[in-house]
Amino acid sequence: MSEVARIHWGEDGEDRFARWRSESGALPPKRVVIADDTLTADAAFRLASEGTGMLWRGDFQNARLLLQALARRIDKPRKAKRAKVAVSAVPPSPADTFNLYRQAQSQRARTLAMLLIEFSGAHHIALRRAPDVVQACSGAYGPGDAAQGNYVAPLRELQGLIGAHEWRKKGLVIAALGGERIHPHYGVFAPVRGDYMELLVQAPLPPALFSGGVAFDIGTGTGVLAALLVRRGVARVVATDQDPRALACARENLARLVPGGQVELVQADLFPGGVASLVVCNPPWLPARPSSPIEHAVYDPDSRMLRGFLNGLASHLAPGGEGWLILSDLAEHLGLRSRADLLAWMDAAGLQPLHRLDVDPIHPKADDLTDPLHAARSAEITSLWRLGAKAVS
Ligand SMILES: C[S@@+](CC[C@H](N)C(=O)[O-])C[C@H]1O[C@@H](n2cnc3c(N)ncnc32)[C@H](O)[C@@H]1O
Repeated sequence: MSEVARIHWGEDGEDRFARWRSESGALPPKRVVIADDTLTADAAFRLASEGTGMLWRGDFQNARLLLQALARRIDKPRKAKRAKVAVSAVPPSPADTFNLYRQAQSQRARTLAMLLIEFSGAHHIALRRAPDVVQACSGAYGPGDAAQGNYVAPLRELQGLIGAHEWRKKGLVIAALGGERIHPHYGVFAPVRGDYMELLVQAPLPPALFSGGVAFDIGTGTGVLAALLVRRGVARVVATDQDPRALACARENLARLVPGGQVELVQADLFPGGVASLVVCNPPWLPARPSSPIEHAVYDPDSRMLRGFLNGLASHLAPGGEGWLILSDLAEHLGLRSRADLLAWMDAAGLQPLHRLDVDPIHPKADDLTDPLHAARSAEITSLWRLGAKAVS
């Protein structure tokens, strides 16, 4: 969510300030200098590396180029360092590699967040060759923001907002929905890897669903799985999420894809009230701390959502009901969670695996040999676990 902190700087001999806005939760830099087209990439890199914010007053397109130059400077030494580690040391464990990778990613994000842009309250940028970003910003920040006055945000975040706006306009083609599109909103998990949806299409629906049963979709995001269930003939779905952005996004997608009103959306931490004949859940799959709020759909510290889902499932299953857990095993390949842990959690929650459907994820990075997580990613499998409540003896 938006920060309400303020950022201070000196300009034209005056003290100035504005609202600070960072959707990734970054704090405003303590030291800020004014920067323009005369700033060299090397000087900008030095400033950014020491945590000095650069409030851009030059040409907007030059700021974009400067950001690219900063990214190149960050990425070069990282690659060199990796190469050195590889020849000199005992190979790090997958978990160490993952932790180093995450640390490097957040350091990179912190450095790139030092190039700053000022916006009017109505999301206008008063720079030469600046694009019109009003729609992209109001889509992400919501209406009614303009009255709050000027704000400053990292250029890199603005680029994320613009990218998200394009996805929202264009939508993602979902093969399992007969090629129809899902339009993800900013900050909402975009189902770019459609592989797991095929599992949801293949798994046999529990018969109890067709004698008045309801289905739950826990953590609905864009609403894609709820829509798929309705397309498979499920008459009533209750879909939850705790993120208001996800609920607004799901509402829009579902109104278009399943206009019959079969899906009820509820803001809830995990389960809605009552029981269901089918409960589906695709929780974040990596037990690690998200480095920003928008990473919550992927990273889940201590597997909180996964374990919460497993622990609450049996008491939300109607007789003959099933829970469908969609989960990648990437965490297992990275040494962050073991298969034995997962099975033990299921067992302790009074659940038994009935069947498992697997798919090799279509992953753009699976073939990237320079990716430090390549070995784990190329071995990754996503599964749909069909779970039932254990019989009480
Ligand atoms: C990996 S995304 C999956 C979204 C969607 N089901 C899909 O398959 O595309 C996980 C979703 O769970 C939501 N979520 C995380 N913790 C939750 C909780 N405790 N209760 C409800 N939803 C939660 C997130 O906001 C996110 O939308």
